[in-house]
Amino acid sequence: MKRRAIGAGVEWLGAVDWNRRLFDSLIPLPDGTSYNAYLVRGAEKTALLDTVDPPMTEVLFRQLEDVPRIDYLVAHHAEQDHSGTIPAVLRKYPEVQLLCTPKAKPLLVDHLDVPPERILTVEDGQRVDLGGKTLQFLHTPWVHWPETMCTYLPEDQVLFSCDFFGSHLATSELYAGEDPYVLQAAKRYYAEIMMPFRKIVAKNIEKVRPLAMKYIAPSHGPIYDRPHEIIAAYEEWVSDRVTNLALIAYVSMHGSTEMMVNYLLSALAERGVRVQKYELTTTDIGKLAMDLVDAATLVVGTPTVHGGPHPTVFAATNLANALRPKLKYAAIIGSYGWGGKAPEQIAQLIPNLQVELLGTVLCKGLPRQDAFAALDTLAEQIAQKHAAL
Ligand code: FEO
Repeated sequence: MKRRAIGAGVEWLGAVDWNRRLFDSLIPLPDGTSYNAYLVRGAEKTALLDTVDPPMTEVLFRQLEDVPRIDYLVAHHAEQDHSGTIPAVLRKYPEVQLLCTPKAKPLLVDHLDVPPERILTVEDGQRVDLGGKTLQFLHTPWVHWPETMCTYLPEDQVLFSCDFFGSHLATSELYAGEDPYVLQAAKRYYAEIMMPFRKIVAKNIEKVRPLAMKYIAPSHGPIYDRPHEIIAAYEEWVSDRVTNLALIAYVSMHGSTEMMVNYLLSALAERGVRVQKYELTTTDIGKLAMDLVDAATLVVGTPTVHGGPHPTVFAATNLANALRPKLKYAAIIGSYGWGGKAPEQIAQLIPNLQVELLGTVLCKGLPRQDAFAALDTLAEQIAQKHAAL
């Protein structure tokens, strides 16, 4: 893809990674992703905002072939998908000065071996004049690491937000327009990397909301040409509000736990509770994370394996704990062969979740009438809690 103009002297560049399917060796990318960089040219100086993931270095360098001089390279974030090509850009442009937050400097030195003498740190609110174009830096910690910042370009009313508001979405479209799928991709992205820092993200939204914005230009996914929509979506996601949604995340080895899951699902639906069922050995963990953004209840279903929960349930529960969703209620159900401590172990795995544990329903082998009666009681409890939300 060639450079694309956003406005006079403001261009998108970077790489669309259509084929990538996993990020951080953890996050599924069903739609690929992009690494967006931006070129801002004033009357006197030129700035490059962010770079690309190192395997895409040649893509970026082809786009820069007719750019003889860059004065400033802005590193919004030290993670390698944006900063990994910084050392190569510093070598190509020996005059360039790298601008970042004070917290980013040691990260760039430690992770990328950037020579510290090439780095100039910028304070929150500091401005750099390019000649008719002003870069105003806004420290926005924890979107996604502690060192992150955004850049505001007041002359063109563009907020360059890096990971903040981003989406893992490979597309030929420069702008999000009215495509509702972009908001879904942004929600998935928020769930996977921003949700653990929800309260701090809320403060960062408050910080950028007053800016006059024609565009929000993130470093993943398309540019928002209707910025109020992604800001409104983020405000909902970071709020304390949950919806009438119960998630049942489970594994079943021989069908007994699945029977319980299906019975509970039906009992909840009959009582007006919306339910989403996730079989954890096959599910897209990113989709589960998306639903954790606003679900009220999580039910964990597990068989007992060597005295504890199924390892896949263990891993998913551990991940849910790390993501710190705003869940209100939880429950544990499952079947065991001859004994075990699966519920106790699962309860210990979720210290970050501020949930009320509504109950545990366990049965030995196949569920029978007493287990189904207990699941009806649990469904009634969940429905009453949801009705009172
Ligand atoms: Fe897109 Fe946190 O890097």
